Amino acid sequence: MRLTIIGTGYVGLVAAVCFAKLGHLVTAVDREPIIQDLRAHKLAIWEPNLQEMLETCLHEDRLSFDTDVVHAAKDADALMIAVGTPTGENGRSDLSQVDNVISQLKLADVICPPFIIMKSTVPVGTCDELEADLHAAGLHTEIVFNPEFLRQGSAINDFMNPDRIVIGCRSHLAKAALQQLYRGIPAPIQVCDRRSAELIKYASNAFLAMKISFANMIADLCEGYGADNRQVMQGVGADRRIGSHFLQAGIGYGGSCFSKDLQSLLSSGKAIGRTLPLLEATAQINEERIPQLVEKLISLWGNPRGKRLAVLGISFKPHTNDMRDAPFLTLLRLCYLYGIEVQTYDPVVQLNTFDNVSQMETAYEAAAGAHAMIIMTEWPQFAELDWVSMVGGMSQPILLDGRNVLSDEVVSRLMAVDNVIYIPVGR
Ligand code: UGA
Repeated sequence: MRLTIIGTGYVGLVAAVCFAKLGHLVTAVDREPIIQDLRAHKLAIWEPNLQEMLETCLHEDRLSFDTDVVHAAKDADALMIAVGTPTGENGRSDLSQVDNVISQLKLADVICPPFIIMKSTVPVGTCDELEADLHAAGLHTEIVFNPEFLRQGSAINDFMNPDRIVIGCRSHLAKAALQQLYRGIPAPIQVCDRRSAELIKYASNAFLAMKISFANMIADLCEGYGADNRQVMQGVGADRRIGSHFLQAGIGYGGSCFSKDLQSLLSSGKAIGRTLPLLEATAQINEERIPQLVEKLISLWGNPRGKRLAVLGISFKPHTNDMRDAPFLTLLRLCYLYGIEVQTYDPVVQLNTFDNVSQMETAYEAAAGAHAMIIMTEWPQFAELDWVSMVGGMSQPILLDGRNVLSDEVVSRLMAVDNVIYIPVGR
């Protein structure tokens, strides 16, 4: 198939290289400077295998770039929209980027592709509205909602080996076209109406976020009663009806999806007079994680002003350089407020300058002279560091493990060192 994808962010670019790999001819569209970089094989995002796959697809002429939506849409069998839908006013999704694509198609005097595949996460009812709008403008195309469930850091693998493919559509023709598009991907396909498909995306993310907040809530209980939350979650997750994934307690979830999608779902509820208390609690538990952690630190330090805090890993999760809604940003704001200096180390993120942050070349440099250290992201290499020598270089050996990175063996070696305070957050 000839597929045009609008938007080359995480979802759009990963989809572009993966569909090209599946044998389709893909044109990816974005703004001039972004396309210029992509043509020069320069990626703004760091994602395992993406660079290599991009180069192969370009080399084999299965992927090309364009900056003109209408030009790229003209001869396509399907147009895919994968632009951002960030949080707008009152938690509602800001659909301006989607609307912009639709307006360009409406204004152009060309035949629109028979299908527009919506990959962007949009509130329930959006596809119905957009399609009605296109029909009113004389463009008889069908909008299909086809959500994406990829995780950053394992996006290519998630795309090629998903648990399910969801197709929200009206016609058999659309269903057949999408089945052809995904031929070669070994996953069950669920075909349903568009509104249900739109809700599947939000409900999935909300459920995952809820599992994490649940684990964090129980972790607080464990701390109070001297139980081990890892053991508790292992026992809970072993029940196949519950499942062991997304029960890692710690500093809470970050990233551009969970918070945004929860807010959007809450706002969809509000629009029809429904409160969604489970989701409100999920968001609230998450928002409290970092402030609680800072309080803990301050209670150990007494006066926080002038203290130096080392932070390992600052993106919202490992294997990505994405800083959107990273818990580190909340931590940084609080540190600024309390006059705490921050020294960071991250394997891939290059931070812009902040007043109270120094970015170091190694974890050891970040630890040197610090009055406490927080592990915020579970990069596998952090577990391999020489922790005893690292705490030896600190002014005050307080270690908060926000992602349960350190093994019991490393912890027992650390505990043999004088004065070390080890706090496994969420354990
Ligand atoms: C999430 C979903 O997992 C994807 O299925 C979805 O497609 C994507 O959002 C999206 O809507 O685009 P992502 O945000 O990339 O993917 O990352 P996750 O692996 O879900 O992690 C999100 C956050 O939760 C991270 O900060 C992670 O550290 C945290 N987390 C995850 C926990 O605190 N505990 C866990 O047990 C799991």
